[in-house]
Amino acid sequence: MKRVGFVGWRGMVGSVLMERMQAEADFDAIEPIFFTTSQVGQAGPNIGKEVPPLKDAKSIDELKTMDVIISCQGGDYTSAVYQDLRNSGWDGYWIDAASTLRMEDDAILVLDPVNLDVIKDGLARGVKTYVGGNCTVSLSLMALGGLFKAGLVEWMTSMTYQAASGAGAQNMRELLNQMGATYGATKSLLEDPASSILDIDRAVTEAMRADSFPVDHFGVPLAGSLIPWIDKKLDNGQSKEEWKGSVETNKILGRRDNPIPIDGLCVRVGSMRCHSQAMTIKLTRDVPLDEIYGMLAEANDWVKVVPNEKEDSVRDLTPTAVTGTLTVPVGRLRKLNMGPEYLSAFTSGDQLLWGAAEPLRRMLRILLD
Ligand code: HSE
Repeated sequence: MKRVGFVGWRGMVGSVLMERMQAEADFDAIEPIFFTTSQVGQAGPNIGKEVPPLKDAKSIDELKTMDVIISCQGGDYTSAVYQDLRNSGWDGYWIDAASTLRMEDDAILVLDPVNLDVIKDGLARGVKTYVGGNCTVSLSLMALGGLFKAGLVEWMTSMTYQAASGAGAQNMRELLNQMGATYGATKSLLEDPASSILDIDRAVTEAMRADSFPVDHFGVPLAGSLIPWIDKKLDNGQSKEEWKGSVETNKILGRRDNPIPIDGLCVRVGSMRCHSQAMTIKLTRDVPLDEIYGMLAEANDWVKVVPNEKEDSVRDLTPTAVTGTLTVPVGRLRKLNMGPEYLSAFTSGDQLLWGAAEPLRRMLRILLD
């Protein structure tokens, strides 16, 4: 059995990974070893089989004994240990959720329902580093993989509505605290059916602008508002999140030398853990909508095409409908007024599942096959 080391299994992505691996009985197929940065020697997690005490995640000697290492510990950890580990002669498989190594030439971005061919080619060439893609990128490809596969995307814009979870666990808590603070500021007015909605709105605005409003993590209010910027600014005016949309999509598709132009604005909204995206797709040719429906639906087992009807869309195409599931609905599919080669689409997906943990556990499964 392969010795598989887990680092960062207690964090948010790591915990989702653990849940999914237990649900799929993945631990039965490996010898799991759990690492820690702070609790060396303590008991490992309860995963339904015996595991050794926690090992030191900073110990190259311990890490070196693994066949595979899966890290959900974050980019700082990857930067701190990865190169030293490789320099020590370690030749095992490194599977990572962090973005640190994504654009390295000798790293493959993993999203096997979309790029199993790229992964298999990497394995055949002896590539040992496999990294999960950015969450919005993976989710858009799960939704629209059929169009890319058919060579129908000339260019695409993606305008995102990204959940609090993408910013971290503390941000999810802060969003809820912000919701609570706005509610608290208006509770008595809300309970009075005769109160004026403009008075309620004034009270909310005052609360959101007050110094006491909880903004330690987001920096500004998100509840009742939105944040039109995610991650750092690059020299060309893009945010780093927007840049990833293009470079990572093309890398996942194995077409860095012949990239499809992809760009858009990334926006944080007050949903919990599902990223949504509104796309405009310039098709390479005019294809009837029913054919497009078919291509999208057949691309993988998780995409679900939602008819462009109000009832279906508001029921099935929302973060609330999708959260905690592997289903990736795509809908609002229609030809735009710009012409028959311009297609709109809207999709929503759980950014902790297909956006983070699921491609990693599936990569491990591919290694075990
Ligand atoms: N960068 C993403 C976000 C999360 O901030 O929502 C992880 O890819």
